[in-house]
Amino acid sequence: MIVINNVNKSYVKGKKTIDTLNLEIKNGEIFGFLGPNGAGKTTTIKMMTGILNADDGEILIDGKNIKTEPIQAKKQFGYVPDSPDMFLKLKGIEFLNFIADIYEIPEEERKEKIEYLTKEFEIYDNLDETMQSYSHGMRQKILVVSVLMHNPKNWILDEPMTGLDPKASFKLKELMRKHANEGNSVFFSTHILEVAEKICDRVGIINKGKLIFVGTVKELRDKFAEDGSLEQLFLEITENE
Ligand SMILES: Nc1ncnc2c1ncn2[C@@H]1O[C@H](COP(=O)(O)OP(=O)(O)O)[C@@H](O)[C@H]1O
Ligand SMILES: [Mg+2]
Repeated sequence: MIVINNVNKSYVKGKKTIDTLNLEIKNGEIFGFLGPNGAGKTTTIKMMTGILNADDGEILIDGKNIKTEPIQAKKQFGYVPDSPDMFLKLKGIEFLNFIADIYEIPEEERKEKIEYLTKEFEIYDNLDETMQSYSHGMRQKILVVSVLMHNPKNWILDEPMTGLDPKASFKLKELMRKHANEGNSVFFSTHILEVAEKICDRVGIINKGKLIFVGTVKELRDKFAEDGSLEQLFLEITENE
């Protein structure tokens, strides 16, 4: 469970990138965070994960405050960033072992998990190559595997389908559903509406730093339009703001 209370963020004085954000991601749900490019999705996620500090307000991950109890809070979530371009000098296997060390996953268990998960995502054969040589999609797959490996209750994923091939994307969506159904929470950002429409229990729409809607896809439709595609609807409501 993730709670965001009255969070503000400005990169430039006097210009709010995130404006009074309130959000609750419940256990058992997949929550889609939607918005056009530049809306503030990544900024929000960076504050949730403690990469950036909020100017004020608070963010709690399973009750742990990311600002005042960062280690405790960070143990409660797994994170896949939008640009998976870190630790590129490491080989895939070295990166996964590094993450397994941090999360103290026992030797036997990690071996099993790494083999199983990397085979599932079809990067098992690339584990001995440095991540520098990986495509964007392969880097994302390694990060997804690293999160699944330590199996945190809360998943925070920034545009996770971008760059994944259809098979991996399908697999990830399946795993997101399974994770939520087991009573955990999945929060992910996307600007691709079809994805959100299909798999989210609830969505939040952010535009220019302001949350302009929270609810189910059905509620979204009921509120804004009788018919028409969600895409059309999305264009309308983000344009009118
Ligand atoms: N480090 C930064 N310094 C200044 N402005 C930034 C920085 N990062 C993002 N921004 C600005 O903040 C706004 C929100 O960006 P971002 O959170 O990345 O949006 P999204 O992920 O929804 O596309 C954009 O206008 C972007 O240009
Ligand atoms: Mg982004």
